[in-house]
Amino acid sequence: MGGLADVAATAAANASAIAAQVAPTAARAAGAGNPVFRRRCCDAAASAVEARLAGRSLDCSLVTGQTPAVAGTFAGETADYYVRYRRGYREATVDAVASALGLAHDDVVIDLGCGTGLLTLPLARRVRLVIGVDPEADMLALARRRTDATLAAKVVWCVGTDGDLPALVNLVGAGSVGAVTVAQALHFMDYERLFGQARRLLRPGGGLAVIANGVPLWQQDSEWSRGLHAALETWFQRPVTATCGTDRATQARYAQALAGAGYEVHEAVEQYQVDLTLDDLLGGVHSALSPGDVPADRRDAFANHITNALPNLETFTDTVRVHALIGITH
Ligand SMILES: C[S@@+](CC[C@H](N)C(=O)[O-])C[C@H]1O[C@@H](n2cnc3c(N)ncnc32)[C@H](O)[C@@H]1O
Repeated sequence: MGGLADVAATAAANASAIAAQVAPTAARAAGAGNPVFRRRCCDAAASAVEARLAGRSLDCSLVTGQTPAVAGTFAGETADYYVRYRRGYREATVDAVASALGLAHDDVVIDLGCGTGLLTLPLARRVRLVIGVDPEADMLALARRRTDATLAAKVVWCVGTDGDLPALVNLVGAGSVGAVTVAQALHFMDYERLFGQARRLLRPGGGLAVIANGVPLWQQDSEWSRGLHAALETWFQRPVTATCGTDRATQARYAQALAGAGYEVHEAVEQYQVDLTLDDLLGGVHSALSPGDVPADRRDAFANHITNALPNLETFTDTVRVHALIGITH
């Protein structure tokens, strides 16, 4: 594991650095820092959600007849690679995001594009209930498998997409949730529509978080990443340009759209380094490909092709830049 980069010396320092940038606004927006207001507000919203969910099966499907735009992309072995190789979110990062959003223990949160629950589950430890929504049943199945007994009653897994926010409002009630989180998934969504519709779900002072969990492995400023990028382009015979919403121009666009939808916008950045083995690197790449992109009988050739393009290193230092864009409602 590499040391933290230039932001702060320890994870704890990172957490407070991030929280310091955004927490005052969240507190203001949630009732001028009045804890009694906050408690009543979250309590009432969460109780309303619980009443609406009472008697329902805990797993649900938001049936709208809409076909998810990326159905299948994260299916099958992509989901398996995802659960095995994708990095999660550090506790300090989740604390900082929860604090920036002004979340309280009684809050309900919707984690849109929840995947295997990398953010959903740590969030559930901090609030009353998290509803994880994703179009990919295989990702949700793995999320469910990762849910231990202590969290089972605090998470609802739902098949659905960003297009289902109106159905979610019907399910849980307008003004009932403390936050909507979208981690590493906004690039699949109609973000302008989402930012507008999410406001109906949020309680007063609630917020929306857009989180980017590091730049893709093939887009980093390092010799090995450039080698990986070149190897992917020669293998697939096409330019590999995907930044998955992590580039600054896209993040500026998201920030502008959030402001345009009436949110008070803040951002927070955490940066740290982690050393990846060759296996981590290859697994990480497969977790970002669609099933069938590299057929099973070509997997070894693919691994050799990538390996030959990389510098001869024991480990590959991944500089993880976690970027959180936080929009708070008034
Ligand atoms: C890169 S994964 C991120 C998963 C998780 N949030 C994380 O941070 O690890 C992107 C997820 O977005 C989901 N997704 C794709 N299109 C979506 C949409 N229109 N609405 C909601 N989720 C979507 C995919 O199925 C996938 O699970």
